[in-house]
Amino acid sequence: MSDLIALSFQNNQLFLLGSRGFLPARGSLMLDIVVCAMLLVVVVLGFSIFLVRSKREYRLHRAIQITLALVLAVAIIAFEIDIRFFSDWRSAAEQSRFYPSGLVDLSLWVHLAFAIPTPFIWAYVLTGALRRFQPVGPGRYSQFHRRWGWIASIAMLLTALTGWVFYYLAFVA
Ligand code: HEM
Repeated sequence: MSDLIALSFQNNQLFLLGSRGFLPARGSLMLDIVVCAMLLVVVVLGFSIFLVRSKREYRLHRAIQITLALVLAVAIIAFEIDIRFFSDWRSAAEQSRFYPSGLVDLSLWVHLAFAIPTPFIWAYVLTGALRRFQPVGPGRYSQFHRRWGWIASIAMLLTALTGWVFYYLAFVA
């Protein structure tokens, strides 16, 4: 089902699911978008932590984290629909020289070990911070949030890193 225009809204608003990606590899369009978006997410997350840590820009940090969480939620839903119903990612991965040894599957399992819990940790940190930082700024909740904020951020970084390794092993090599 590659190169398939899955959903078409009115006139020229087309949503391409299952179509070929733009990177010089065998990934689908959604995979390529997510692989690039993760780079943006990691950079913006780093900037948001810098803002709160060094500049005490608490409101900006809150706005960025809410936006990031929304962008990630949309990306995860689109990505899951694409992978499960439209893209035959396994036939693309089978062409990899690492496929026969099982390394592609192993790298996917390692990636999923981070990718599955990370949205839950994020939801926990985000909702906790929104409820407890009122008004937005340092307070009794700071220590707890700093610890879990770092755990959530490192989990996101590891999700991105392991995702890129999987993408390379499955669709580039
Ligand atoms: C998933 C979302 C979020 C993540 C991953 C995150 C991450 C972090 C991290 C890592 C720090 C510690 C920086 C340091 O070492 O000093 C921090 C600090 C802080 N964050 Fe977040 N944050 C998130 C959402 C929010 C939201 C929604 C708010 C506001 C409602 C918020 C308010 C704060 C405040 C006030 C601090 C400073 C705490 C202090 O040093 O007293 N955060 N955040």
